[in-house]
Amino acid sequence: MLIDGHGRKVNYLRISVTERCNFRCQYCMPEKPFSWVPRENLLSFEELFEFVKVAIDEGIEKIRITGGEPLLREDLDKFIGMIDDHKKGLDLALTTNGYLLADVASKLKDAGLKRINISIDTLKPDVAAKIAQKDVLHKVLKGVDEALRVGLKVKVNMVPLKGINEDEIVDVMEYAKKRGMTIRYIEYMENVHAKSGLRGLSGKEILSKVKERYSIRKIGREGSSPAFNYVTDDGYKFGVIDPHKHDFCESCNRIRLTAEGHLIPCLYFDEAMSIRDAVKAGDIAKATEILKEVLRNKPEKNRWSEEDGEESSRAFYETGG
Ligand code: 5AD
Ligand code: SF4
Repeated sequence: MLIDGHGRKVNYLRISVTERCNFRCQYCMPEKPFSWVPRENLLSFEELFEFVKVAIDEGIEKIRITGGEPLLREDLDKFIGMIDDHKKGLDLALTTNGYLLADVASKLKDAGLKRINISIDTLKPDVAAKIAQKDVLHKVLKGVDEALRVGLKVKVNMVPLKGINEDEIVDVMEYAKKRGMTIRYIEYMENVHAKSGLRGLSGKEILSKVKERYSIRKIGREGSSPAFNYVTDDGYKFGVIDPHKHDFCESCNRIRLTAEGHLIPCLYFDEAMSIRDAVKAGDIAKATEILKEVLRNKPEKNRWSEEDGEESSRAFYETGG
């Protein structure tokens, strides 16, 4: 079992397999980054897998593949298959923008993937084109349909933005609800890479939009999820993620690995250690030692709520949110 320096059990690893993306979402990377990590600096799936094995053997029970856009990396299904073969029954999930999903959903499911999170910020093609800066909606919705058809569990993420998609909060919920998917609203997190002037809705503002259609009841947090859950009067459960609070940090169970091999203890912080040399040298003992050191130094809580208005410099496209 993996326990961090604050006594929290850590059993969840998020792996960003690439920082590249085929969208340019306003809240994430509206401009193509000045420079990408050169491809030769990326760890291969075989190298990443060396670390994943260590992590699983030490107590990781849940793995989420993120990006950037993870489906841009070829043979992702093979990587998922390697992980699933190492430990059957592991909770294996993927976060994707859905654009390339329709063609690969079935392969991913066969490889052992269980769950997918997809961002759907709008159901209007022109608004989607404005947010992602590309005409994406049709392909994304096709991806959702295919993922559901092959039997993957799908969750929808929506980031409500003032003057852009705030009028669709209930519509996107209805879309998800009709298809048996949970929706989670994520408060926009300020960061230096996002388009300037962008304003998100607070959790409270999001809930008041939902309340225009439904009466709702609080459920609370479940497990270590950062989402606070609610249920509508007709029994539909949904969540709100408010990263400006840090009450969920108390039960934080996760660490993150980037495509270059940086092991990051907390999304907000820039501190990280590299497992790159250890896995390249096949040095399992060293990789294990680094994993334990990162856990010892995992911060107690994020800093969004402390430094009023300060933006994080960490790029979401590196760490996958
Ligand atoms: N604030 C909130 N959510 C964000 N995401 C990306 N950037 C931000 C941000 N600045 C979300 C995406 C996606 C998930 C991976 O992270 O909408 O659902
Ligand atoms: Fe790409 Fe996701 Fe960032 Fe949008 S939010 S630019 S889809 S990584």
